[in-house]
Amino acid sequence: MKHIPVMLKEVLKALGDLHGKRVIDATFGAGGYSRAFLEAGAEVIAFDRDPNVIPDTDILKSEYKDRFVFVHKPFSNIAELTEIFDAIIFDLGISSMQIDIPERGFSFRENGPLDMRMSEIGESAADLIENLSVQDLAKILRDYGDIKKAGVLARILKNERPKTTLELKNLIHNSKDVAPVFQALRIAVNDEMGELEKALSAVPDLLKVGGKCICVTFHSLEDRIVKNTFREWTSPVGDPRLPIIEEAKFKSIKTEVPTEEELNVNLRARSAHMRGVIKSY
Ligand SMILES: C[S@@+](CC[C@H](N)C(=O)[O-])C[C@H]1O[C@@H](n2cnc3c(N)ncnc32)[C@H](O)[C@@H]1O
Repeated sequence: MKHIPVMLKEVLKALGDLHGKRVIDATFGAGGYSRAFLEAGAEVIAFDRDPNVIPDTDILKSEYKDRFVFVHKPFSNIAELTEIFDAIIFDLGISSMQIDIPERGFSFRENGPLDMRMSEIGESAADLIENLSVQDLAKILRDYGDIKKAGVLARILKNERPKTTLELKNLIHNSKDVAPVFQALRIAVNDEMGELEKALSAVPDLLKVGGKCICVTFHSLEDRIVKNTFREWTSPVGDPRLPIIEEAKFKSIKTEVPTEEELNVNLRARSAHMRGVIKSY
């Protein structure tokens, strides 16, 4: 199924008038956000590390010519950009296309190779289980999946070396742990937290005064990184007991969650949060 953009209405409202604005869409996916930004008159640079999105980027390139540029790289590479922008948007996580194709190995509902690589290069989830120590694997399951008996499960995985999604699922005895284990491995395979931290640290210097950064998050770990980073940027700098305090560089944009109306048509929006900041000087 083609990915339905999540919270697009709220994102567009938070961004305001986009005519002539320069926007980074850090997560192209099926291009729903990029297309909406282009239709609103923006110039868009889009990033995605998944090679499967390229045909959709070609369609936008032919429609919008040099108003649309696609960079087939992880979004932490925004740090290499030398211009400044009016808006930077992250719509995190995976797309419906990624989860729906069993051969990509993201889904525990259908059998496929235990892959989970968004970029289709580097170590797969099966490689990770093969190559990590029991301790490191347990840490991933604990930190990214909140798995209680992570050590026990890590040892089982190391012994059994699952190569398919179904083999992995069958090794997880507590059915409540299946989704969190898949999530934990996916986060580790794609270094999702590292990518987000690196990209966010580049944002302040890439935004013009008045520029906005908007993030749509889907699970508590990425949401915490965004929330804490934005809190730091929107807090005054210095010791509050001393007279000289530097005013915060950013102001918050109101956090939003999906409407009932959206949830009725797109269940995948259910855990989404939209957070944003605007650069004040
Ligand atoms: C939720 S989808 C984005 C959907 C998009 N907003 C739309 O409307 O179609 C997330 C996309 O971000 C990409 N992605 C996730 N992490 C990435 C990263 N660190 N670097 C580049 N692309 C990434 C995924 O490959 C996926 O295609």
